[in-house]
Amino acid sequence: MRSKSNLLLLLGAFFILGFGALVLGIPKGEGATVKRGEKLYMEQCMNCHGKDGKGLGKLIPGLHHAELLQKERLICAIRYGKSGPLEVDGQVYNGQMPPNFALDDGEIRDIVNFVYAQFAEIPISLDLPEVQDKLRNCAQANPRLQW
Ligand code: HEC
Repeated sequence: MRSKSNLLLLLGAFFILGFGALVLGIPKGEGATVKRGEKLYMEQCMNCHGKDGKGLGKLIPGLHHAELLQKERLICAIRYGKSGPLEVDGQVYNGQMPPNFALDDGEIRDIVNFVYAQFAEIPISLDLPEVQDKLRNCAQANPRLQW
């Protein structure tokens, strides 16, 4: 009898904790990758592209352009950087985005998912195998840059 009520108590506690986590919005699944990505974006990208992804005048492009947000383009730019002339909406940029080899594949996935959640017209969420597949493609396209 006693152990049965203890069990009920335990179940109750789990229920309340689980419900509490839901109410407090503790991120799970897709929410968690976006949350981690937000922190990384603020550390790694915000200085140049801005908190709201609007870029910086004629120097740095904003990130609200479907063209720049093509999966492989975005993923490759994060690891391998980007330089040379770049035309977006009639504006020509010719700056330099440095490569970033300190970010692992999972961190790149998180940044990409935050960027899509925040700046894309249709938010999507990528999983690790898809990101790694794209990273392999751009490693082949940038043989000089493989480390
Ligand atoms: C030091 C400044 C700087 C940082 C930090 C930086 N970028 Fe960039 N980014 C640039 C510049 C400048 C360009 C345009 C390069 C050019 O003119 O070719 C660019 C271009 C891009 C592009 C377009 C790439 C293409 O193929 O045209 C994307 C997408 C992008 N950045 C995303 C990011 C993300 C996400 C981060 C954070 C992981 C980041 N950038 C960090 C300066 C930066």
